[in-house]
Amino acid sequence: MSDNPLVAGLYDPVMAIPERTVLRPHREALVADLDGDVLDLGAGTGAMFPYFESLDSVCVEAVEPDPGMRRQAVEQAEESSADITVVAGDAQDLPYDDGTFDAVVASFALCTIPDHERALDEVTRVLRDGGEFRFLNTSAVTEWAAESTTCWPLHGTPSPAAVT
Ligand SMILES: C[S@@+](CC[C@H](N)C(=O)[O-])C[C@H]1O[C@@H](n2cnc3c(N)ncnc32)[C@H](O)[C@@H]1O
Repeated sequence: MSDNPLVAGLYDPVMAIPERTVLRPHREALVADLDGDVLDLGAGTGAMFPYFESLDSVCVEAVEPDPGMRRQAVEQAEESSADITVVAGDAQDLPYDDGTFDAVVASFALCTIPDHERALDEVTRVLRDGGEFRFLNTSAVTEWAAESTTCWPLHGTPSPAAVT
């Protein structure tokens, strides 16, 4: 896990234009119609937080291991009207009981987690029966997870696409 203040400081400024021009519909699709207890995996600086505000009844736990990113996420959560708690943690060893969440979302986080398979096992463990794992990522990781998940590819229509 990194603790790189430079990356944490540059992340939002670098992402500002793609966020406005490309990513908005994908992030909206990622959270569409979610409710209940939601885990935001690798939350970074809190890029998903504004999108949770549009949902009626979600309670969000946002896990982020990098202290610099997490500090910004905490500030975003404090300013947000959504119910969001930011937690230090590792996707490979989540600090939650089995069956805690109705949904897990991961935006551009899977590609940075060293052990994908372990993280996916953890996602499965913390989801309730019938829970959903939703993620946004680049194609290599999307292909890896395509067999068992629902994915929102970055290219094409920004709506849920079941991949089996
Ligand atoms: C590219 S950023 C994406 C941040 C945010 N989700 C977004 O959409 O902008 C990837 C994030 O995953 C986090 N990350 C890296 N390894 C992780 C791990 N083992 N468990 C959880 N998060 C991790 C990084 O610290 C970083 O904040």
